[in-house]
Amino acid sequence: MNKLIWLSDPHFTANGLVLGHDPRIRLQAAIDYINTHHSDADCCIISGDLVNHGTSPDYAALASQLKSLSVPMLPMAGNHDNRDLLREHFTLPKTAMPDFVQYSITTPNGEIICLDTKKTGSDAGEFYPDRTNWLELHLNQNPETPTYVFMHHPPRPLDLPMQDADCMENGDAFLDMLARYRQIKHLFIGHVHRPITGTMNAIPFATMRSVLYQVPPPIPAWNWDTFTPALEAPQLGVLTLNGADYHLHYTQFCDDQTGT
Ligand SMILES: [Fe+2]
Repeated sequence: MNKLIWLSDPHFTANGLVLGHDPRIRLQAAIDYINTHHSDADCCIISGDLVNHGTSPDYAALASQLKSLSVPMLPMAGNHDNRDLLREHFTLPKTAMPDFVQYSITTPNGEIICLDTKKTGSDAGEFYPDRTNWLELHLNQNPETPTYVFMHHPPRPLDLPMQDADCMENGDAFLDMLARYRQIKHLFIGHVHRPITGTMNAIPFATMRSVLYQVPPPIPAWNWDTFTPALEAPQLGVLTLNGADYHLHYTQFCDDQTGT
């Protein structure tokens, strides 16, 4: 069996609060929980929005704090990230593309692929030929290996009126491409700061709560002018891969008051 920990959207800052929450305290709560209960995990994937403002001091402080994590950390890029600074402050796996935060990890129970869906200068995502070509080459080389894909942006809208405009802009083409590869088992998606599961183009997916702050459900209706984070505790994912089966446990690691 392989065990992976999934964190998303820590929106880390070296100083101050983000929407009333302390990113250092929330991240440390996650680190402490993982170190206490899941130090046997193979790795911890953070599916983007590592920092809130994409500055070098924030990445340096984040890298420093993550040194206390007892399992290897795999960083990913979100819309709040600066791709070049992320690559400066974190070492990516040897499989990484030269100019993107996109790479694969091989485990005895399947292939993990972390995609770079960032569109520079936009909150929405994109996935265009250089990254697509890398992915298709990889998938063509491993047609029999169960494959689990992590990405920041949802390829399609998720019935989230205030957030759907910021999904991947060419998501339908992306999903049509993925549908040709039967080894794709599941998509693991960040960005929305909410727990949602379902299918996209018949491919199962899950989204994850943020390490830092949660976005309210779409009903009752809200808008960005009146937005305040939901009073929901953050969660992390514990993903186990065991031959043909895999399980994702949404796991609370602190209460909704920690770090506020
Ligand atoms: Fe985010």
